[in-house]
Amino acid sequence: MDLSGAEELIEHLVEYYDRVAPKYDSWASGLHGRVAARLVEVAAPVRGEVVLDVGCGTGLVTHLLAHRVGVKGSVVGIDLSARMLDLARPGARPNTTFMAMAAEHMVFRAHRFDLITYGQSLPYLADPLASLEDAVRLLRPGGRVAVSLHRRSLQTEAQDLFYKVLGDLAVRHHLRVPDHSPERSAFGERENLPRFLSELGFEEIRLTEMVTGGRSRSPREWTELMAGSGPLPNTLMSILGPRLRAEFEVTLAEGMAELGDEAFRYHFAFIFAVGVLGS
Ligand SMILES: C[S@@+](CC[C@H](N)C(=O)[O-])C[C@H]1O[C@@H](n2cnc3c(N)ncnc32)[C@H](O)[C@@H]1O
Repeated sequence: MDLSGAEELIEHLVEYYDRVAPKYDSWASGLHGRVAARLVEVAAPVRGEVVLDVGCGTGLVTHLLAHRVGVKGSVVGIDLSARMLDLARPGARPNTTFMAMAAEHMVFRAHRFDLITYGQSLPYLADPLASLEDAVRLLRPGGRVAVSLHRRSLQTEAQDLFYKVLGDLAVRHHLRVPDHSPERSAFGERENLPRFLSELGFEEIRLTEMVTGGRSRSPREWTELMAGSGPLPNTLMSILGPRLRAEFEVTLAEGMAELGDEAFRYHFAFIFAVGVLGS
């Protein structure tokens, strides 16, 4: 897997997640919360289990896991964004701990966890495969990994246009923006995720999907939605300033006018995978 630019990416991502933390849970009418609920459903934690939630963010997945494992179980959420962790900690159940820790260097003892979850965090890690290899070390035999990922290939023409206009603007203004390698962007596609998991020794891999979509009521609503959809658009939008932002919005509106009915439509698609560690 090509991880070029990973170091640059990680600094950029922690800074990004610190910045968006206050708006994370409410983005797209609470879409992250709905994805978290589905992940916990497919992971199927049971009373008494010991669970690790990697890249826990504001704790959307962690809190649901804590409810499901009950007082005899426990959950640890780890993340590198201090602002995300600040939002996760208040209201945590007594069976829940949040720790500032990198997903690639998890300092836990081996074979301690029944279940490890990655709620939309895997593609954003500096080294996703190193983290999954570490997860294998931390799981007990027969333990499960449960992953949710954004599926990029299902985006609409309007979303393609948004990224193109933003990319062209960046090039015109000499901006160099860290980008995901194509392999990393394709992580969430149906054909790739089961392959990664089975190469790591996971069996009985089950996949499910969730697709949501809609149409923004105004260009401004659309831009806000897309700016919150990931680190790269958000970082670019945040450095544009009023004049370039206006230039961007005019070019985008012209392109949208040509899309007719497809203008300002969006899809956000997610894939969920659960695998059991073979002995
Ligand atoms: C899209 S958010 C997911 C948050 C949460 N799991 C959820 O389902 O809503 C990705 C999270 O991964 C965290 N993250 C990124 N790189 C990380 C790393 N190397 N180690 C630990 N956490 C990381 C970010 O700070 C962010 O909170």
